[in-house]
This record gives sequence, structure tokens and C-alpha cells, in this order.
Amino acid sequence: MKRLFSLSPRLQTVAKLVPRGVKLADVGTDHGQLPVWLVCQGIVPQAVASDLRPGPLSRGQALAERWKVSDRVSFRLCNGLAAIAPEEAEVITIAGMGGETIADILATTPWTRETGHCYILQPMSGMDGLRRYLSQNRFAIRRELLVPEGETLYVILLVEPGDMRPLSEGEIWVGRQTSGMDSPFRARYLEQEWKKLCWAAEGLARSQRPEDREKHGQYERAAREVAQMKEEWEQWLLL
Ligand SMILES: C[S@@+](CC[C@H](N)C(=O)[O-])C[C@H]1O[C@@H](n2cnc3c(N)ncnc32)[C@H](O)[C@@H]1O
Repeated sequence: MKRLFSLSPRLQTVAKLVPRGVKLADVGTDHGQLPVWLVCQGIVPQAVASDLRPGPLSRGQALAERWKVSDRVSFRLCNGLAAIAPEEAEVITIAGMGGETIADILATTPWTRETGHCYILQPMSGMDGLRRYLSQNRFAIRRELLVPEGETLYVILLVEPGDMRPLSEGEIWVGRQTSGMDSPFRARYLEQEWKKLCWAAEGLARSQRPEDREKHGQYERAAREVAQMKEEWEQWLLL
């Protein structure tokens, strides 16, 4: 028997968060590696995988055929979860796309806020927009993980429908932090996001557009709060 392919550290971390035996839906599956790997490893008995475009979906189908799990991974050509029934998905993974698209998928599927579903979200961009959407729409972020791959730090969110104290402006950018949190890459993440906020605020300060004035104030407030969070994190590390 051939040795099973390996997942990238990013997808490996998403896979580790999938509980054994659940019904899995992978949205934006593309190459299909995540559902095929989880089924081949016996972590989930079967999976549903969707993609918006036929080309990527057929790549996923080809991988499932290659690993002889086509009968256990059902591929659907659709936008987000549109062709997936709520009873088919206990855990929904959405990885490798923009935060805005992920928020849009959650917002346009009528059943996403029903209990009994949990989400593992890995956005490539637009983290602030996604956290803002979750915070304002009764989704609770239960955990955030940071995974380095090359120069990039990827954020992975474990989310379920439910209440969460609304995120502050700084938390929208870097997530919530608590003392004792185990997050070896948090200091690097805080520094990186604080710098991005400062650069963006500097750019907005030079803009003549009236709408940028309000945005500038918002970015400055977020940068100040993230600077405080950086200090707080350093203090906690010394304890
Ligand atoms: C970069 S790939 C990510 C593949 C895989 N999930 C990963 O993380 O490696 C993004 C995929 O999402 C698909 N996609 C983008 N928007 C989508 C949507 N609204 N619904 C379903 N699939 C979508 C794209 O066609 C593409 O195949």
C-alpha cells in the first residue's frame, strides 16, 4: 500500500482539530486533501466536500479516486454550504479563502447558527472582518491557533454558534488573549499586526478623503489597544 500523502502544517493543524467520528463538510475543498486525508486516516467515516468551481472540484474527486475513497467523500459543486444539508455536517472546515468570503458563507446559509455545528475557519486574509462578523452575529470563538508556514503565520479559529463577550477594537485585529494561554507564536503575531495597524493608520492620516478620517481614528484606537496587549503579554510571560 502506498504511503498516504502529508498535509501542510496549516492543513495538518486544521485536521488535528477535527474530532474523531464526526460528520465533516469541507468547503472550498479544491485539491480535496483535507477530507481525503481525514477519511483515509479513519478519523472521519465519510465527508462532504464543496467547491464553487468545477476545475478544483474535479481535482478533489481525482484525489479521492486515487486513494479509493470516492464512495466516502461526496463532492458538491456549489457556493459555500448551499448544496449541503445541515444533518450532513457537524464539523465544517473552511480553509484557504478570504475572511470576507468565509463570513459571507456563514451569513447566507440559513442553518449555520443552529446548535450542533462547529466551524474550523482558516482565513488567508481579512481576519479583522471575519472576527467582527463573528462577534456581531452570535458566533463564539472558542479557540485561536497560530501556525507558522515559511514566513507566514496562519490563524485558525474554532467557532460555534453561541454567546461571546463582544470583541473590542484591538481584539478584532488580534483576537482575545487570556493569562495562561498556550500560544508560542502570539508575541510574533502581536508585533506583526501592531506594525500593520500603525502603517495603515499612518497612510490614512495622509489621506484627504473625509471617510478616511473616521477610519484613521478607528485604526489608531486599535493600534493603541494592541500595543497594550503586547505589554500585557510580555508581563504574563515573565510570571
Ligand atoms: C486556495 S483554495 C483552498 C483549498 C483548501 N481548502 C486549502 O485550504 O488548502 C480555495 C478554494 O475555495 C474555493 N472557493 C472560493 N469561494 C468559494 C465559495 N463561496 N464556495 C465554495 N468554494 C469556494 C475556490 O474555488 C478554491 O478552490
